[in-house]
Amino acid sequence: MENKKCSDSLTIMTELVLPNDSNLLGNLMGGRLLYWMDIASALAASKHANSQVVTASVDNVSFQQPIKLGSVVTSNEAFYTFVALDENGHPLEVESVVPETEEEIRLFEGAQRRREVRLVLAGKIKAHEAEALKKLFNND
Ligand SMILES: CC(C)(COP(=O)(O)OP(=O)(O)OC[C@H]1O[C@@H](n2cnc3c(N)ncnc32)[C@H](O)[C@@H]1OP(=O)(O)O)[C@@H](O)C(=O)NCCC(=O)NCCS
Repeated sequence: MENKKCSDSLTIMTELVLPNDSNLLGNLMGGRLLYWMDIASALAASKHANSQVVTASVDNVSFQQPIKLGSVVTSNEAFYTFVALDENGHPLEVESVVPETEEEIRLFEGAQRRREVRLVLAGKIKAHEAEALKKLFNND
C-alpha cells in the first residue's frame, strides 16, 4: 500500500463555454457541466486507483449561478462515486486515501455516511444496516 494523498490524484480541467455548450439564454447547459465534471473526476479516480473506473453514482450537484457563453470554467462541486474495475470488468479493491488538509479531513470523515445514504437509496443495503448513519442520529 502506497498511502496515496488527495493531492496525488488532484485533477484540474479548464473549459471554454462555446455556443454549442449553451442554451437559448446563452448559459452553459447543466448536462454539459456534468459531463465535464464526470471526466475530471474519472481522471482523478483512475489516477488514485491505478485502474479503469466507472461512474456508480453522482450526488449533491447544485448550479448556483448561470455560467455565460464565453466563460472559462475550472470547477464546480458534487460527489461522484467511481468503482474501479479489473481487466475483466470486475470491481477491484482500492486503497483508502490519506486526507491531509482540514477540508480533506472533513470530507473523509463524512464519506462513510454518504456511502450509506447512496447504498440505501440504491436499494443495495437496508436502512437498519447503515451503521454510520445510526451513530449520527443516535449522537454516539
Ligand atoms: C458500478 C458497478 C460496477 C457496481 O457493480 P455491482 O455488481 O453492484 O458490484 P458490487 O456489488 O461488488 O459493488 C462494488 C462497489 O460499488 C459500490 N456501489 C454499487 N452501486 C453503487 C451505487 N449506486 N452508488 C454508490 N456505490 C455503489 C458498492 O458499494 C461497492 O463498493 P464497496 O465494496 O466499497 O461497498 C455496476 O453497477 C456498473 O457497472 N454500473 C454501470 C457503470 C456505468 O456504466 N457507469 C456510467 C453510467 S453513465
